[in-house]
Amino acid sequence: MCGIVGYVGAEDCAPFLIAGLKRLEYRGYDSAGVALVGESGLEVLRSRGKLSNLESLVLRKAPKGTLGIGHTRWATHGRPSDENAHPHSFRGVAVVHNGIIENHLELREELRRAGHTFASETDTEIFAHLIAEEVEGGHDLLQATRRALRRVRGTYALAVVSETDPHTLVAAKNASPLVVGFGQGENYLASDVPALLDRTREVMFLEEGDLVRLRQDSVELFDGDGQTIARQPRHIDWTPVMAEKGGHKHFMHKEIHEQARALVDTIRSRTALETGDVVLDGVGIDEALAKSLARVTIVACGTSYHAGLVGKHYLESLAKLPVEIDVASEFRYRDPLVPPGSLCIAISQSGETADTLAAMREAKAKGARTLAVCNVVGSAIARDAEDVLYTHAGPEIGVASTKAFTTQLAAMLLLALKLGRLRGTLDADRAGKLLQDLRGAPALIEKILAREDSILAAARTYSSARDMLFLGRGLQAPVALEGALKLKEISYVHAEGYPAGEMKHGPIALIDEQVPVVVIATRDPGRGHGQDTYEKIVGNIEEVRARGGKIIALVTDGDDLVSRLADHALWVPPASAFIAPLLNVLPLQLFAYHVADHRGTDVDQPRNLAKSVTVE
Ligand code: G6P
Repeated sequence: MCGIVGYVGAEDCAPFLIAGLKRLEYRGYDSAGVALVGESGLEVLRSRGKLSNLESLVLRKAPKGTLGIGHTRWATHGRPSDENAHPHSFRGVAVVHNGIIENHLELREELRRAGHTFASETDTEIFAHLIAEEVEGGHDLLQATRRALRRVRGTYALAVVSETDPHTLVAAKNASPLVVGFGQGENYLASDVPALLDRTREVMFLEEGDLVRLRQDSVELFDGDGQTIARQPRHIDWTPVMAEKGGHKHFMHKEIHEQARALVDTIRSRTALETGDVVLDGVGIDEALAKSLARVTIVACGTSYHAGLVGKHYLESLAKLPVEIDVASEFRYRDPLVPPGSLCIAISQSGETADTLAAMREAKAKGARTLAVCNVVGSAIARDAEDVLYTHAGPEIGVASTKAFTTQLAAMLLLALKLGRLRGTLDADRAGKLLQDLRGAPALIEKILAREDSILAAARTYSSARDMLFLGRGLQAPVALEGALKLKEISYVHAEGYPAGEMKHGPIALIDEQVPVVVIATRDPGRGHGQDTYEKIVGNIEEVRARGGKIIALVTDGDDLVSRLADHALWVPPASAFIAPLLNVLPLQLFAYHVADHRGTDVDQPRNLAKSVTVE
């Protein structure tokens, strides 16, 4: 996934494609490519690394064409390489794609049996094959694309060209963004507005299920059944800087709002509800190995460490494996014990954090099998680990981690389910139920995001506080730590997260009218799992109130008890205890964001912090 540009018109479009891709460079990428359709047919040029490599190639080969697509890739399936760079082509059809195809292995196998050979490790290449087959079967490009899409499950922003139709660009959207730009005698396509701003401000954002056919003088919009849709373009007056953030004020805000999509990409292709099975591409742990495991050691830093704390609960409950977790910088220097049968899980968004890499290597040197939970394909930690479970959050630009965290939680739950099934500690029914809950999480996230106004109101009310406490219990204790970390990172308000039961052992001394206390007091409607600490957290709220403290509570919809006790209720939809961390962190991210925004800090690049800490 990453940046898409497209052009159909009258000019030789290679310079437009390169310029458009340059405007999307800020999103990060590992390779890039263009495909042009001209008099001599289809020409595809691709190159690993910086866009300047592709630019030199384009200058050297001077491809010609008034129809073209371009892409900057941020690897999901298959390492960064020339072969895996988009566009992917087959028999005169070229495609670029953002998103993840769930059933690509199945389709690949089917096509292979029918005699197809593949040139890359990507899921995207499937599209080129499926569409080319349909084109060869006599369908026009629009129909061919529609027919191919019927066979595909997953998320996509897709752009297609074919040398059989040198004046038509077809695109389709499901979950990943895509926008059409309207020009004079030419039309454009992009994943993000910045690529278009030089040429036009008349745009149309595609909606789920849309298919669009662009020609030099027309833009036609269709639904999945081929019915025409009428939709007016809109004028946007965003500055280039606003456009980079998709109209959001900050990358962090944009990334908070991308979490439903990110979760879908991380979860969907890996789960089979009927059987309760989890398929983890990149993880080679089989039944014998899973059963031989005696212990798990998790190492991570910052937000990833908090994801690890939740992961410990998942693994212990579902896979019945004892888990120890360490901040990576501590683990590597304490001569840790790594008994036989150890699995070391390194969690890292960037895959480059020096302490996490060193801790994982330390565990490996002492005999542990290593597994990385990582967001960046081909990063140092991913390369070093024996198994890799990728989160598919997409590039995260804001320094404070948000969508990486929720996808790490989902990945840890998937891993715990997988190990639980392999070890025989989890039956298919329960696993299926948990998978169903997990697959329901993106819709619940959308509900929480729709309540942003009330979170903003709470943030405004408390934005002048000097100190804040965040409390939670059980699975919600790490979420409290993460809420406090978010707030301190970006707003510079001093914040501490505590397991609520520890309050009596120190933090209670801090409480007075000046110290707002954020309490995660949500309730699992199914209770059980030994996780129900609701009454205890209500007791903690009473203790704070008795000392004059102000309570901001995360409350489950319909819970009058906690909402009456709280000064401010932040409502969240009901969810089981295992899923609640993925939801509860959202109001806390938004709360931190709005406090910081109100205080006028540099939200995306807070002072003294770095996105990726590659030194000790
Ligand atoms: C830095 C970032 C944090 C991140 C931590 C670990 O401190 O600012 O947002 O959680 O590093 O990074 P990693 O890439 O290993 O998850």
